[in-house]
Amino acid sequence: MEDRHTECLKSNRDFLCSNISLSTGLLAKLTKSGVITDEHLQKLLNIKRNDTTKAAVLEFLTEVLPRRAPEAFNLFLEALSKSAQKHIADHLKKWLGDVCSEDAGTFERLRAELQSHYKRRLASICPMPWQQDTSIYLNLTDVFVERQLKLKTNNKGDERIVTMDDLFTPQQTKEIPRRLLIEGNPGIGKSTICQTLAHEWGKQSCGRHCRTLCVHSFDLVLYFHAGDFIDEESVAHAVQKHLLPSDCRITTSELQGVIEAKNVLIIVDAFDEANAGNRTLDRLIKGDILRHKTLLITSRPNFLQNKLSLFDSKFKVEGYDKEEQLKHVERYAAHQNIASAPFESMLEEESIIDLCSNPLNLTLLCLLREEDTQLMITRTALY
Ligand SMILES: Nc1ncnc2c1ncn2[C@@H]1O[C@H](COP(=O)(O)OP(=O)(O)O)[C@@H](O)[C@H]1O
Ligand SMILES: [Mg+2]
Repeated sequence: MEDRHTECLKSNRDFLCSNISLSTGLLAKLTKSGVITDEHLQKLLNIKRNDTTKAAVLEFLTEVLPRRAPEAFNLFLEALSKSAQKHIADHLKKWLGDVCSEDAGTFERLRAELQSHYKRRLASICPMPWQQDTSIYLNLTDVFVERQLKLKTNNKGDERIVTMDDLFTPQQTKEIPRRLLIEGNPGIGKSTICQTLAHEWGKQSCGRHCRTLCVHSFDLVLYFHAGDFIDEESVAHAVQKHLLPSDCRITTSELQGVIEAKNVLIIVDAFDEANAGNRTLDRLIKGDILRHKTLLITSRPNFLQNKLSLFDSKFKVEGYDKEEQLKHVERYAAHQNIASAPFESMLEEESIIDLCSNPLNLTLLCLLREEDTQLMITRTALY
């Protein structure tokens, strides 16, 4: 059961024990909707008979309901409403509502924390992360080349080219996609797409993206590496550990409440790097948790085979075409404040043409070319 529901039951225990009538109507509805099993029913009736209704209600609130599936809480409220105990359901809803309005302040704080985290941490690309001290940092906004994605339109392999602006646009079913997958080879630009989405959202303004259902339509964007979920029991725990400063006093149950109440995009990069034993991520993909939130996952191809059917939209990101290669080197040259001609001529060099379509390779080639713009980069020289 969700933390805030557990808290709600705890805070209202006295009230519930004194007011709930374990009527046949209520018990029948709880059994029908699967909140209690026949065994639970027998046990509760025994306690009611041998002890008191209060004791049976207490058993239900502390031993039964908290151990049932997350939806059990709402089914319990429904059962109350339909068995002439609506005032009790309303009392609990009001309690949750009051907590939510306290969440309004939490939401603003969380949003501000995340935005400043993304603005600070995601502003640059580090193409050689293994060399962090001496490494080159490129300004993301300056060097980013807008990507095209191939959207799979059916199971027969048909595809349609879409832009990043169309990622969240409803496709065939006209429903907003909730589970999205971007697959592509290493170095092709998956992480950079995720970084750009979170960074754009952090900037608050829509800018050029505002035509469509863009990343700014989300109240919150939670940007993770798949490994961030390992050993974390919930998304809220992962947010607290990986996205917020340790002195930011937002509790996991407050986070959970806000995540549930708001329109949230959860970005999880690099499924292929950290999927083994990643239970929270599995539950997220399956929709066991937060199924109404939008989840965008990236991975190298063929890592999600048995989970593919869980995704509403599947995209492929492939190598740069000629135009994108040109844009890439022009932006790189402008960023480094040097002429772009030597980089452009590099794109024509027969022996390395196949390398230039991969953004990572092309970035590394640009770095080498910059070292010595007099030399021509050839395959042989590279090796
Ligand atoms: N859209 C892009 N615009 C400019 N450079 C890019 C872009 N995509 C990738 N790159 C370059 O390629 C490198 C590798 O990309 P990355 O997103 O890490 O690939 P992947 O996650 O698919 O392995 C980046 O560090 C960056 O230098
Ligand atoms: Mg990556």
